[in-house]
Amino acid sequence: MPPLQKPRVLCVDDDPQLLDGLRNVLRRRFDVTTAPGGREGLQSLAQSGPFTVVVSDFRMPEMNGAEFLRCVRDIAPDTVRILLTGQASWEDTISAVNEGYIFRFLGKPCPPPVLLKALDGAVEQARLVTRDRELLESKLDAMSGHLLRTERLATLGTLAGAVGHELANMLVAFDSALRYISKRSREGLTPAEEDLTTLGRVREHLATHASHLLHLGRPGTPGGEPTDLCDVASGTLSMLRSAGTLRHAQVHLEIPQAPVLIRMDRIRLEQILLNLVKNAVDAMAGLRGRSPSLGVSVTRDEEPGTASCRIEDNGCGIPQDKLVEIFEPYHTTKPPGQGTGLGLFVVKQILDASKGELSVTSVEGTGTTFTFRVPLAREVSQGV
Ligand SMILES: Nc1ncnc2c1ncn2[C@@H]1O[C@H](COP(=O)(O)OP(=O)(O)OP(=O)(O)O)[C@@H](O)[C@H]1O
Ligand SMILES: [Mg+2]
Repeated sequence: MPPLQKPRVLCVDDDPQLLDGLRNVLRRRFDVTTAPGGREGLQSLAQSGPFTVVVSDFRMPEMNGAEFLRCVRDIAPDTVRILLTGQASWEDTISAVNEGYIFRFLGKPCPPPVLLKALDGAVEQARLVTRDRELLESKLDAMSGHLLRTERLATLGTLAGAVGHELANMLVAFDSALRYISKRSREGLTPAEEDLTTLGRVREHLATHASHLLHLGRPGTPGGEPTDLCDVASGTLSMLRSAGTLRHAQVHLEIPQAPVLIRMDRIRLEQILLNLVKNAVDAMAGLRGRSPSLGVSVTRDEEPGTASCRIEDNGCGIPQDKLVEIFEPYHTTKPPGQGTGLGLFVVKQILDASKGELSVTSVEGTGTTFTFRVPLAREVSQGV
């Protein structure tokens, strides 16, 4: 068994004889270091600490013992402090006790048995302080581990909810394509090309979401091939039109003639558009006094290297004080069964992962505009 280490004691006094005396009394039971003043004491503390106990004389040039021990308390709060004094005033004594930086006062000259007893008490005090701190730390460790697990479970739950939300979105398109295909088949007709295309798109979404579920909780990598924002915007509107989602709205699509290539997976881009357009349609349901109008426009921005897409509706609008909350997962104003409050959360997640931005402006009772901005494909590949 390795020999037990002696407790380390730092003795500070400007009188070399007294330091020698202290060393002689203590060295059998303690590992003693000495310093001739407060400044040197602080140096020892910094260079060869930690010490279990510091014993300091009161009257020393430059820095008195009370000042020195106050510094020790700040630098090494677990080190137990003893003041050895024959000259401290009542005021000094009271303030040192009240400020709590002294464990014991010892008078000078101090008989060796008294000194040894005080040091034994100090070592025991240090042991109790360390034990309490270790207990507290291990409790905190256990609690923070538990919190981390709970937080991770909550995150996984939200991510799983988000995938479920997106699958439900695709169900609308899937159901309507299937209904038309079945109808045509009953009439002895082959499926329409448009419905087959919709089923193909739904299949791609399913594959993406299945892979997302398999990698739940791990950050995805931004998509590979550039995607034409104009093409996806008009394709998504067609899909929603054939699913009957846009039947009550006037739709205006404004896109540049040339493709606007962004480096985002087509499926991800469709998810963004589907969610924003569906929200716009919901906001325009039951409008009185004006007919629902949806505008979708794509532009290359003035700021080089990015493109924007605006989705504008003349629906119910969003109160100003709710404009931040709407991005929180599960925040919804729709009745149960009609909204989960995950649509904007998904949109935000996709844009964050693709270095994109989402903004919203709204006037209650007049309408809302969501705009997302994404880097062009060329810029992303150059690391912008
Ligand atoms: N275009 C909009 N006009 C008015 N309110 C909107 C619009 N878009 C979003 N909101 C508000 O933001 C809330 C959150 O939208 P989000 O898409 O996250 O969830 P949801 O549409 O309620 O439910 P889900 O998308 O899961 O079906 C909506 O409930 C609605 O109050
Ligand atoms: Mg929604």
